[in-house]
Amino acid sequence: MCGIVGYVGDRNMESVLLVGLERLSYRGYDSSGIATISGGELSYWRTPGKLHELEKVLQNMSIRGTVGIGHTRWSTHGEPTEVNAHPQVSTNGKVAIVHNGIIENYLSLKNKLSAEGFLFRSQTDSEVIAHLIDRYLQTDLAAAVERAVLDLEGTFAIAVIAENQPDRIIVAKKGSPLIIGVGKKENFISSDIHALAPHTKEIMYLDDHELAIIEANSVIVKKINGAQVTKEVHTITWDEVVADKGGYDHYMLKEIHEQPSVIRNIISKMVSPDNALIFDKLHISNGDLNKTNRLIIQACGTSWHAGLVAKYMLENYARVLTEVDISSEFRYRHMLSEGHAIVAAISQSGETADTLACLREAKSKFFKVLAFVNVKGSSIDRESDGVVYSYAGQEVGVASTKNYIAQLVTLYLFTIHLAVLRWTLSKEDAVKMTNALKRVPDCIEKILSQVEKIRAIAEKYAYSKEFLFIGRGVNYPSALEGALKLKEISYIHATGYAAGELKHGPIALIDKNLPVVCIATKSSTYDKMLSNIEEVRARKGRTIIIATEGDTSVQHLAEDIIYIPEIEEDLSPILVAVPLQLLSYYIALKLDCDVDQPRNLAKSVTVE
Ligand code: G6P
Repeated sequence: MCGIVGYVGDRNMESVLLVGLERLSYRGYDSSGIATISGGELSYWRTPGKLHELEKVLQNMSIRGTVGIGHTRWSTHGEPTEVNAHPQVSTNGKVAIVHNGIIENYLSLKNKLSAEGFLFRSQTDSEVIAHLIDRYLQTDLAAAVERAVLDLEGTFAIAVIAENQPDRIIVAKKGSPLIIGVGKKENFISSDIHALAPHTKEIMYLDDHELAIIEANSVIVKKINGAQVTKEVHTITWDEVVADKGGYDHYMLKEIHEQPSVIRNIISKMVSPDNALIFDKLHISNGDLNKTNRLIIQACGTSWHAGLVAKYMLENYARVLTEVDISSEFRYRHMLSEGHAIVAAISQSGETADTLACLREAKSKFFKVLAFVNVKGSSIDRESDGVVYSYAGQEVGVASTKNYIAQLVTLYLFTIHLAVLRWTLSKEDAVKMTNALKRVPDCIEKILSQVEKIRAIAEKYAYSKEFLFIGRGVNYPSALEGALKLKEISYIHATGYAAGELKHGPIALIDKNLPVVCIATKSSTYDKMLSNIEEVRARKGRTIIIATEGDTSVQHLAEDIIYIPEIEEDLSPILVAVPLQLLSYYIALKLDCDVDQPRNLAKSVTVE
């Protein structure tokens, strides 16, 4: 996890580093820090808490320097305190490093270095890197970094500065992302493109086991313990729209309200006026798609829920056996390479470590890999055989909203495409399904017009100690997603369950205090769902029902009811997600939680 930035050049160092860190804070916001070298002297500033704490400390200082590095942290080893914040520095204070990743053998290295007299001040795994470099440093910083990283086990993207070579940053990478932004008489480094976007569109992607020497006028890349390599400079062609809150109190609320336009945008990009579907980076041949007899979807968090929804559609329409696995689990099972399987990775950030690791494992076993990803240029985007973009735009709120909806839409379109290709869906039915999707943005707008009603319901239940979410079929994953959203941002314990499974355990939780959010939209399992709600009511559970507009037969079962427009069952998870997002948002707001940056979380999880 964590975000790292660095700059060599003549601009205002403080501002370049702070803007970069602000843009990387979705990767963690437990603490932040910067280090610079000015007049041959290394200085560093670190604070626990969010970036504004560091900004406060730097407020009346004028930070100079022609090299600088910065870090925003998601804690793995050690609490989020000042000493555990990065940059981590060597005992003599002459070498500073920032690190994204996990050093798995840090304890043995720490013991060894401590015995040699190096003074450890933090509980981090990263501190060993600073001491190791110091240990190997004679005159050439790059040589010392190169030697030091050979001792490291685990993952790292590091940026290093040292007083003895104050004109350069040395970076090295294994397993965590690192990008070099190429400028004129200046160069940048960052964990991702977001931090570089205001400065340059010329990008070099560092690969694993590579090291680079970054000076203002040059970038030299070489293999760690190997020869110099020539890197391609990519010009970023897409415009990055800088996210702002657009008048909303939080990014999350803004992103919820953006959902109709996100879907309209996807339709305009992926559906031609005559309803042909456009997948311009699919890059997996029709022959391979046709031959496929097994789709293995792997993802984490909300993206995993999108995968679960897709399974229903893919099996129903494209008639392809679809497995959906949590990446961190899938990775350590034995991946059977039988049959014509395609591995699909679903990821908003395109950087989730477990999802990326599965993708690499799948490729090493000669599977074709298809990514459903939002962030262009991310590792998963670059390393997959084919890509379907979510086109959700930059999502800033840590709890995923508009990207989830975008994933559901693109997976729906992919299902149609695959089904037509495999002759399991007629072209006429494909057009009907595509046309049905075109109604979704208006339906979401209708739900959004009920914001005040949903807010009142949310506030009524906000002080409940726990929640249960239940759904069936294609809306079972919606129940999981509803519960996750609530947990993430309000810190209220919530569980999502398949409604039919209630009687095998969770029904024991139900009493007169437990709010149960029941997804009971019109569907093939509607009647069964009503029976499950009856079971909840019989035990005095407090039912908040999400139902289809005009359905009066659920009213007697509901303490509160939220109606959503009538829509085809396959599309209902898209609509159902909206009131669930709003419920969580307004509950979290009522409880005064930090909606956009909930405690302990990060938007991009780049550690396993
Ligand atoms: C984190 C985020 C979630 C996200 C998950 C997977 O946990 O907080 O919102 O769903 O990572 O991220 P990805 O970028 O792979 O979709």
